Amino acid sequence: MAVIVIVGAQWGDEGKGKIVDVLTEKADCVARYQGGHNAGHTVVINNEKFILHIIPSGILHKGKPCIIGNGVVVDPLSLIEEIEGLKKRGIEVGNNLFLSKNAHLIMPYHSAIEREQEKLKGSKKIGTTGKGIGPAYVDKIARIGMRTGDLLYPEIFKEKLRTNLTHVNLILKSLYKAEGFDLDDVYREYMGYAERLSEYIADTDVILNKMIDEKKNLLFEGAQGTLLDVDHGTYPYVTSSSASAGGACTGLGVSPIKITKVIGIVKAYTTRVGEGPFPTEIKDSLGEKLREKGGEYGATTGRPRRCGWLDIVALRHAVRINGFSGLVITKLDILDGIKKIKICTAYKCDGKKYKEFPKELHLLERCEPVYEEFSGWEENTSGVKKFGNLPKEAQSYIKNIEKMLGVEIQIISSGQKRDEIIMTKELF
Ligand code: GDP
Ligand code: IMO
Ligand code: MG
Repeated sequence: MAVIVIVGAQWGDEGKGKIVDVLTEKADCVARYQGGHNAGHTVVINNEKFILHIIPSGILHKGKPCIIGNGVVVDPLSLIEEIEGLKKRGIEVGNNLFLSKNAHLIMPYHSAIEREQEKLKGSKKIGTTGKGIGPAYVDKIARIGMRTGDLLYPEIFKEKLRTNLTHVNLILKSLYKAEGFDLDDVYREYMGYAERLSEYIADTDVILNKMIDEKKNLLFEGAQGTLLDVDHGTYPYVTSSSASAGGACTGLGVSPIKITKVIGIVKAYTTRVGEGPFPTEIKDSLGEKLREKGGEYGATTGRPRRCGWLDIVALRHAVRINGFSGLVITKLDILDGIKKIKICTAYKCDGKKYKEFPKELHLLERCEPVYEEFSGWEENTSGVKKFGNLPKEAQSYIKNIEKMLGVEIQIISSGQKRDEIIMTKELF
């Protein structure tokens, strides 16, 4: 029996979806713990590509229950579309999907407020996905959020909505000079969603803890990554949830003492989408080459991802925050054919050397990377299934990362597909 948390170790898009899909084979249940439909988790099965936004990436395995936890923020229309899209492609979604009663709803005014806030920030904008994620979490913490459980009680739902719209409309109309929302319109819209979603709404903490008592294998899927975590990321250029391992406990209602492993997903280089500091960003044609070869375009917004070298300073921070018991390296194949590969081992700023990830944004923004250079490899590593079959330079790249981080690399991904993987350790 194992309870495994899968966490992005960088700025998201590390390939969490692929790894969760692969590990689901031996799991009894997969649960998402935070974020919303800002996430885009890509899974490729036999040349067919699926992008999951809030449904756990385990859904593509028949008969494995999937849970959307209380820590997730849910846009009901987006969820309905995701369910319908999967069903149309022959994926079973019914009594295998459970949506926490305590998950907060993204309301239409959340994306409206976010749009106005980003506009006002001008050049200081976060570069959000525009899905209303931040304002939905603001309402949750401000104790005025609407939850999926409220959809089951129309009168209570309407009363909460009435109170919220009074102040939301004041903000939108008076402050932002934008359009407000009509109570009856929003109420009717959401009651329509209630009809479609009520069959999934459940006490997910009870379901999960029962499975833990029954010694089942559970997989908890994080969205985004540690450097986008609201507490531990490059604040304020972060998302609004706890993407790191701790978020799995609060976001699912599972005690920390029940977690048996925390696995960090690390892309063999670094990417970031949206604004914010990125010390190892490659701004020349090599960055573009990585973007094209790696298909580094947002799975949710289609925006080009910024690309850079692997950053050990940032990763050591992620190791510390999450206490990774093991690591997965993805997209090693994208580095094939690059003559010299760099790894950032420290930062330099104002003549001072930094080994630890600076907390101050103004400092981090000015940090220059200190690199160690490694020989690349010419061979094609796509689809390699055994560590010993990797070129020796690729083996040494992996071994160096392992040494620098002090955590074992237990899986290496060598392509998009399920079987393009090197499993040096069974996690379940
Ligand atoms: P996530 O948000 O962490 O699930 O990652 P995304 O799905 O947004 O981005 C990762 C992309 O890389 C997807 O298109 C995956 O299909 C792809 N991918 C994952 N692992 C590998 C790999 O080892 N090699 C290659 N070439 N692509 C991979
Ligand atoms: P997955 O789960 C990469 C980024 C946005 C923006 C910042 C805040 O696929 O790895 P938000 O809409 O969340 O308020 O935007 O966070 N961001 C992601 N970047 N992968 C993601 O998810 C992301 N989800 C949000 O680009 O910089
Ligand atoms: Mg993604």
